Amino acid sequence: MSSIQDHLFDSEFLDLSLHYLSETLQLKITVLDSDQRPIIEKGEIGGAAARYYPFNFPQNIGGLSCAAPNPEALERAEPHINYCLASLNSQLLREIELRETSEEMLQLSSQLSFLSRVALKIIGVEELEQCYRITLREIAGAIKAEQAFLKTRGRWDEEISLALAVGQDESVTLRESECLKERGGCEHTMICAAADGSSLLCSPIREKDNKIRGQMIFLRLPNQRPFSSYEKKLVGIIENIISPTFETLRLYDSLQDLYLNTVKALAAAIDAKDEYTHGHSFRVAKYAVAIGRQLKLESKEISDLEIAAYMHDLGKIGVSEQILGKPGKLTSDEFGQIKQHPVFTDRILQPIHLAGHILQGAIQHHERLDGSGYPLGLRGQEISLFGRIIAVADVFDAMTSKRPYREAMAVETALKTLCQDVDSQFDRNAVLSLIQALQANIPNGELGELHTTLRFDALHNLKQFLLELAEIVATMPAR
Ligand SMILES: [Fe+2]
Repeated sequence: MSSIQDHLFDSEFLDLSLHYLSETLQLKITVLDSDQRPIIEKGEIGGAAARYYPFNFPQNIGGLSCAAPNPEALERAEPHINYCLASLNSQLLREIELRETSEEMLQLSSQLSFLSRVALKIIGVEELEQCYRITLREIAGAIKAEQAFLKTRGRWDEEISLALAVGQDESVTLRESECLKERGGCEHTMICAAADGSSLLCSPIREKDNKIRGQMIFLRLPNQRPFSSYEKKLVGIIENIISPTFETLRLYDSLQDLYLNTVKALAAAIDAKDEYTHGHSFRVAKYAVAIGRQLKLESKEISDLEIAAYMHDLGKIGVSEQILGKPGKLTSDEFGQIKQHPVFTDRILQPIHLAGHILQGAIQHHERLDGSGYPLGLRGQEISLFGRIIAVADVFDAMTSKRPYREAMAVETALKTLCQDVDSQFDRNAVLSLIQALQANIPNGELGELHTTLRFDALHNLKQFLLELAEIVATMPAR
């Protein structure tokens, strides 16, 4: 049942019209609803002639029944009735427009607030996958989807695939593969139904040239109402606005890569100054990353650690090649110059405003826990985690590499030497993690990826040696 009263925001004009028709023209006016039931009655004089005038509205909302004492009176009143009816109809149309406009404004404002919320959350997030995750979760929350899936490609064409359950219903299995396989190729945002009656809302992720780069799919279970056209429109708008952001992030990823390659090139240039340290920065970076992984650092921390390790000897560019490559014993003045290289590293890196932990890692690798290191003589926890990790990686590589004045040490000897200085000079967890990383990198008794030229005195029992050494380091009393 519906009536004109449900659709008129301002009923004053209706009252005036009814008053005019009933009082001035002396008609009996009845307003009827869509079921032809009277809802308003005006005027006393009814009679032999009556006519029904429906309201002009997209749906049935009833109309006016006008009655006069005789057909002639009704005929005379008809132009007035039609005029009132036309005015009422145009008022109804204006109110429809007004309602639609205010609904659109409401929708627009909720879309804007959604977009600003997502923008605030992804500002400062540097990983593309994390941005996708935040966006997917926010959209799923906004349209009350229970599951959401995303499949796309990153900067280097690597696959990014995400699946999340928004509701906490653990009994519902995520149907990622099913959804993406069935609906993975839509070219426009669309609503469709899965075989079990779930409602799916699929939206393509586009590149700048409008090429489709991936898909987002939202799912509502069969016991929920299907997605509406408003929700489809919202996802379409969001997708259009957010796609350029993802494009920028992909570009940012490539800039990061360019930056890392530049750092590697610099590290290679430093290593090349001294034939005995060839490849040193790269190996230190490998060992540091291996230690970081054993310490379960986050992937972003590990890539920062890698950069810090590549940069750790950058300051050697300010030390003469004669001193760096001198075969004999260094004079105290020469050693004083070498001790300045972390200070030079600091000076070189200051202008590029690196994150504090990367800079600290690069310039603190000669600091020692007991304060005997250089350049600042920092102690214990004054030395950053990255500084403590790179110190272990650096010393291990120095010991296992050939020097002008000695042969490369065997891994066992180098590790034993490191272990002697655990807690006094080197961080126990970093040393333990290096041993465990070496242990984890021994396929068939060889040291696989970490360093192919490492020398072992007793390869046959290296694994056992590392196991026992790890046990000793883990259980030795604190010093
Ligand atoms: Fe160094």
